[in-house]
Amino acid sequence: FARYAPYIRAINRLKAEKNAVILAHNYMTPEIYHGVADVVGDSLQLAIEATKVEADMIVQCGVHFMAETSKILNPQKRVLIPDVTAGCSLAESITPEGIAEMRAKYPGAPVVSYVNTTAEVKAASDICCTSANAAQIVAALPEDTVIMTPDQYLAQNVARDVPQKRVVWWAGSCIVHEQYTAQDLRDFRAAHPQTHIIAHPECPPDVVAEADYSGSTSGIIDYVARHHPREAMLVTECSMASNIADAYPGVEFLGPCNMCPYMKKISLEKILWTLHSGTEEVMVDPDVAAKARIAVERMITLSR
Ligand code: 13P
Ligand code: SF4
Repeated sequence: FARYAPYIRAINRLKAEKNAVILAHNYMTPEIYHGVADVVGDSLQLAIEATKVEADMIVQCGVHFMAETSKILNPQKRVLIPDVTAGCSLAESITPEGIAEMRAKYPGAPVVSYVNTTAEVKAASDICCTSANAAQIVAALPEDTVIMTPDQYLAQNVARDVPQKRVVWWAGSCIVHEQYTAQDLRDFRAAHPQTHIIAHPECPPDVVAEADYSGSTSGIIDYVARHHPREAMLVTECSMASNIADAYPGVEFLGPCNMCPYMKKISLEKILWTLHSGTEEVMVDPDVAAKARIAVERMITLSR
């Protein structure tokens, strides 16, 4: 960590000078997560925290859709992202035309879009969800058929948990979580029978079925905090285990993990440059933002 110290000091000094706040996702690397973040969390927590920001500027350490969500909720604030090219395979998989296609196919069904979507897709949707509240949102809607976009696996996992609804989905997927297979987990369990296997719901349903628990990135942390397993395998992005390892010294984190190439585009060096230069600002068309805000705020209200 010592080699990061000059960056961490410079970022924290500049952050105070510019009255900026750093919102960081749980998948940021440990030097960002522990060194410079003011708030860390899953997508839902970061969206809720974005509604409470009093600083003039938000530096979003995460992927582009997360920065857009902060901008949608704070249209009058400057929102910067250290690398504007930090995308997401899910957000890239659907456009507003895709939403229109789904609406034409399932007339009258509400569209629940994962927050892992562009502002334009959120604006074309009825309500948003995250992995932390997807089942709760779908269960709360009055209609029998619900369209979920764009994560087919999250949708299939919700369909299992909310059997009273007919859930239909768009065929997007997360390039990090789709790589895990049920056989990987079975093999791992056979070799390490004591290990608690904890999977993100962006994994395919047969993978989730092999896990002891499935939840959002913060749900995963809560599970570790509640159970203090001697051994844990986090079936998600690699930084999760690195970020929480120090807080749970009695837990040995085992098993392979996958890196998100988009999340890993964010570095201390780029955060420092963004703060210094004020470039890499995230802009959302005000009309699009106004419509998208309705979908995001509905989600926040329903998750309380
Ligand atoms: P969470 O909302 O669980 O933090 O997930 C966001 C994400 O991009 C996971 O891949
Ligand atoms: Fe998108 Fe998957 Fe990366 Fe999350 S981990 S940002 S869902 S590609």
